[in-house]
Amino acid sequence: MLKVLVIGAGTMGSVHATAYADMTQAELVGVVDIRLSAAEAVAAKLQTKAFKSFEAALASEDIDVVDICVPTYLHRRYVEQVAGAGKHVVCEKPMARNLEDAQAMIEACEGAGVQLFIAQVVRFFPEYRRAHDLVIKGAIGEVGNARAFRGGVFPTAWNDWYANVELSGSLIVDLMIHDFDFLRWCFGDVERVYAKSQLGRELNRTDHALVSLRFKNGIIAHVEGSWAYPSGFRTELEITGTKGMITHDSAATAAIHKQLRSSGGQNGGKEGSSVAVPESPLRKSPYQLELEHFMDCLRTGTDPLVTAEDAYKALEISFCALKSARTGEPVNVGEPMASGKVVPASSGAGASAVTVASTSTATGTQASTATSISTPSTATGKGE
Ligand SMILES: NC(=O)c1ccc[n+]([C@@H]2O[C@H](COP(=O)([O-])OP(=O)(O)OC[C@H]3O[C@@H](n4cnc5c(N)ncnc54)[C@H](O)[C@@H]3O)[C@@H](O)[C@H]2O)c1
Repeated sequence: MLKVLVIGAGTMGSVHATAYADMTQAELVGVVDIRLSAAEAVAAKLQTKAFKSFEAALASEDIDVVDICVPTYLHRRYVEQVAGAGKHVVCEKPMARNLEDAQAMIEACEGAGVQLFIAQVVRFFPEYRRAHDLVIKGAIGEVGNARAFRGGVFPTAWNDWYANVELSGSLIVDLMIHDFDFLRWCFGDVERVYAKSQLGRELNRTDHALVSLRFKNGIIAHVEGSWAYPSGFRTELEITGTKGMITHDSAATAAIHKQLRSSGGQNGGKEGSSVAVPESPLRKSPYQLELEHFMDCLRTGTDPLVTAEDAYKALEISFCALKSARTGEPVNVGEPMASGKVVPASSGAGASAVTVASTSTATGTQASTATSISTPSTATGKGE
């Protein structure tokens, strides 16, 4: 059984620690946080140990894997330290706050001969996975365009770090990266990016961004992200092809809706913690499926569904969008970034609550949990 230490006892640290505690493949040996009281609260709930530092945990426990759930700008520091100690790494998305850090993380893990798993979790949401698989097997023919939305309340967390663009990268890097990764999984590499956002007005706690992507294969996508909701969280997806269309709307397809009152987003991050994490009606949440998958990869030596290179490429798209939002100009993937580093061009392939509608004959609704496909009536690809 793999012995796992979680660093960070905030929103995601708590989600990850709970998943490991519920897993047969892993044993949660402890939780680390600079706020010992936060680590102790999670540890007490899950009957494990709390530590104030990685060094203290390392000195006390046998560890195989360290799962890093601290704010994004701290990822590199911990990945290098953990790899240096010869432990496998799981790290939350976005991989890092800049591409140099992301590259250094890959090199540190390669150099140390340990695995680096980046938790791009959308690939483990059944509705998105189903949509991906339908696209790949040609269920809606040749895809021309896609539209994705992801949004919720402005996140309020430790030290209000999400509100500082220099620390979080804004919702373009922190939130929309999920759809950038998903769309790249479906359609391959992106050539050009254009973005509009309210960057710089983050103190309003109503951030919103619109990003257009042109893929190398000619597909275009519109990705919209929001941290302007008064409460809740919602995702939407629409992919159109010559034979039909796939749609998903979390608000329409969720098996249950739960809304809790929260101070998040209302108090300027001064107290409390509230980061919207999508609900799942499944017995195993996508977060648990993802982490179990990473543990299985370690056990069997197989490649993960999302590689560190995939996570790097999604980050690359995010930074191109951030640059475009700042300059007002379209950005070709491969142009030098503000950091001075040239963004390499790349490749990749391949869209789950999903609906598929076919164009001519009757409107088939062939749903998985929440995926629907509609196909156009004739084979002309012209739907109604
Ligand atoms: N996959 C997803 O759906 C998802 C959702 C939310 C957040 N995230 C990502 O997870 C990461 C953590 O976000 P969060 O919302 O849990 O943040 P958070 O602020 O809720 O938690 C971060 C925790 O790290 C602790 N911390 C800060 N500095 C530390 C240090 N040097 N050493 C040890 N602990 C330290 C803080 O005390 C806090 O408890 C971010 O990268 C974020 O983007 C992913």
